[in-house]
Amino acid sequence: VDLRPFNTLQLPAIASRYCEAASVDDLRAALAANGEGRVLILGGGSNVVLAQDFDGLVLRPLLRGRELLGDDGEYRHVRVGAGESWADAVAWTLEQGWGGLENLSLIPGLSGAAPIQNIGAYGVELEAVLDRLEALDLVSGEVREFTRAECRFGYRDSVFKRELAGRVVITALRLKLPLDWQPRLGYRELADALASTGIDRPSPRDVADAVIALRQRKLPDWRVLGNAGSFFKNPVVNTDTYATLRIAHPGVVGHQQSDGSVKLAAGWLIEQAGWKGRDLGRVGMYERQALVLVNRGGATGAEVLALRDAVRASVHERFGVDLEPEPLVV
Ligand code: EPU
Repeated sequence: VDLRPFNTLQLPAIASRYCEAASVDDLRAALAANGEGRVLILGGGSNVVLAQDFDGLVLRPLLRGRELLGDDGEYRHVRVGAGESWADAVAWTLEQGWGGLENLSLIPGLSGAAPIQNIGAYGVELEAVLDRLEALDLVSGEVREFTRAECRFGYRDSVFKRELAGRVVITALRLKLPLDWQPRLGYRELADALASTGIDRPSPRDVADAVIALRQRKLPDWRVLGNAGSFFKNPVVNTDTYATLRIAHPGVVGHQQSDGSVKLAAGWLIEQAGWKGRDLGRVGMYERQALVLVNRGGATGAEVLALRDAVRASVHERFGVDLEPEPLVV
């Protein structure tokens, strides 16, 4: 099966076996039939680089379902199946008039993948809205719950990327949406965008609209120009490194974290290193957001990896900072 339709970077790669699962039993059956073979769990394919063909089973958990479970006086609890589009699930909650997920509007991919890298945008990360999740444990064959604490979330990180990589398949999310909703406008650009609309008490819908407009302005639609969103994480450095960097590069963009470290804007580093809007082969760094690697058409995984390495080398040479790719390389 050609995986090109199943990855947003639009890379060609052949999987020797492919299966879609609509239920936990489907997942169990597909895994059992695969025996000891390799497995790649693929959701919306919006955070992977398919660098080569895959000799094994590509399994897509497409379990559906969106439902209100009830409320506890403080939060509404909502359950979303792993196979639901994240962006559609967010839009659905907003249509019901429920605030809480608006900052995370329009993020591509399926809901089940959202916890793996703790998706985040405009000042909110998934961990702030996730109560717990359900996952099939591939060792025991049973479905178990993970509390938020057990997910061990970090910036674009969770236990599912580390200790439990390849050990579980997430089957559903349980989200908690505050009954006493307040807009979260800590991200400067979002606050500015809302201020410019003149709305002084924004609704969840207003915040979502502003987020959607910002995303549409900066991030290419993968259906038009293949991409995987931010290609690198924003590097986190200690205060001393930041102070040294600022002496040599007074324009460096960094945000102080609560633990004293500083998160640097990788987009700025890449732009300064001369890569914004620049191509290498059939891939390039996007002209409106240097952190986004785009497929100009017909690119291969090898070209993506070549650009990754070139950008990393330039940024390292110029700033002494290591960029870590965000998507999983398969
Ligand atoms: N910048 C530049 N040049 C560029 C791009 C950015 O100088 O070409 C500088 C600017 O100073 C800008 C700052 O970087 O103000 C931050 O840029 P932006 O607001 O676009 O956010 P980001 O840090 O590049 C992160 C997430 C995005 C998320 C946005 C908004 C990561 C790796 N990326 O990008 O997430 O949408 O913030 O919250 O943390 C994704 O992970 O795929 C993703 C799109």
